[in-house]
Amino acid sequence: MSHYKTTLADEAATQALGKRLALHLRPGFSIYLHGDLGAGKTALTRALLHAAGHQGHVKSPTYNLVEIYQIQLQGQDVKIMHFDLYRMTSPEEFLEAGFREEFNEHTVCIIEWPEKAEGILPPADLNIFLRIAGHGREVELQALSDKGNECLAKLNFAPNL
Ligand SMILES: Nc1ncnc2c1ncn2[C@@H]1O[C@H](COP(=O)(O)OP(=O)(O)O)[C@@H](O)[C@H]1O
Ligand SMILES: [Mg+2]
Repeated sequence: MSHYKTTLADEAATQALGKRLALHLRPGFSIYLHGDLGAGKTALTRALLHAAGHQGHVKSPTYNLVEIYQIQLQGQDVKIMHFDLYRMTSPEEFLEAGFREEFNEHTVCIIEWPEKAEGILPPADLNIFLRIAGHGREVELQALSDKGNECLAKLNFAPNL
């Protein structure tokens, strides 16, 4: 499975990555975002949602656990579920809320703090790791499925040196 690592020198670079990711989203896709508070998980998702056609505000789902967006991908209605599980106290909470059922072919799931639901989440198509590095960020993208591989290939990164 493919794997890329690169530097995001400033917030504009994070936004550009979000925008590129949006171009290759497909219904049924899941992205898990890893990284400390302030690493840029929400900033990346916000850019992705705006590029995917969402025109309103994108707020961090820290308190509600999830924010839902209805967008169109190639003429098809798609629901994007943006989760932030930071405040979840146990993985069971995720199951009880019925979130597990949202992982289906009609929905795109983007999850901040997937570690909080470890053991009950299905594997992601794409793992994204963000790290604070000086004034910028380091980002690693890891494909975990054929769909994830296809997405990374289309993102067309320069090869890792
Ligand atoms: N590549 C980058 N370089 C420097 N600052 C960035 C970069 N990407 C995002 N930021 C900034 O870092 C912060 C990230 O916050 P946020 O996206 O809420 O983090 P998280 O959701 O991971 O807790 C924002 O203040 C944003 O402006
Ligand atoms: Mg966040």
